[in-house]
Amino acid sequence: MIVKNLYKNFDGVKAVYDFSLALEAGKVTSLIGPNGAGKTTVFNIVTGFLPASKGDVLFHGESIIGTAPWKIARSGISRTFQNLRLFRKLTAVENVLLGRQNQSGEQLLRALFTFSENSPEHRQNLERAMEQLSFLGLRDKRMIWRKIFRTASRSC
Ligand SMILES: Nc1ncnc2c1ncn2[C@@H]1O[C@H](COP(=O)(O)OP(=O)(O)OP(=O)(O)O)[C@@H](O)[C@H]1O
Ligand SMILES: [Mg+2]
Repeated sequence: MIVKNLYKNFDGVKAVYDFSLALEAGKVTSLIGPNGAGKTTVFNIVTGFLPASKGDVLFHGESIIGTAPWKIARSGISRTFQNLRLFRKLTAVENVLLGRQNQSGEQLLRALFTFSENSPEHRQNLERAMEQLSFLGLRDKRMIWRKIFRTASRSC
């Protein structure tokens, strides 16, 4: 993904000023800066939640400026939010499972009639969720709720 000379003004506030970034696939890249530097505004523009004042965002060589957030998400750019809203009564692994996109249970009829905890889809999602928890060092906390909520909130 390439961010090219991005600008965002909120009336008189220059929240983002000539910001550029090139992300390489397979690498973890951090965007750091003091409070109010414009990090969240950049994320909001890249994921389609805010229009840019000027500049471009290219994904696989195509501009995604003006694309709806759900289309951007489907194309492979996903995000989390600064103020997390986890489900307190679900365990850590259940919260991660909810983030999986395009699960068949998102369609009402399939949710009512075909969902099974033994389905290949569910097992595959569970495996992926466990990989993600492991990546974050949270595998041993997979069945914890509330406590994980506090831990996750503190770390963001
Ligand atoms: N919707 C908005 N309307 C007006 N000003 C805004 C809006 N969103 C952000 N700003 C302003 O834009 C600037 C950048 O804010 P932003 O939230 O992007 O910073 P940040 O780097 O994410 O900060 P933090 O580290 O505190 O999360 C700040 O001055 C902020 O007050
Ligand atoms: Mg922020």
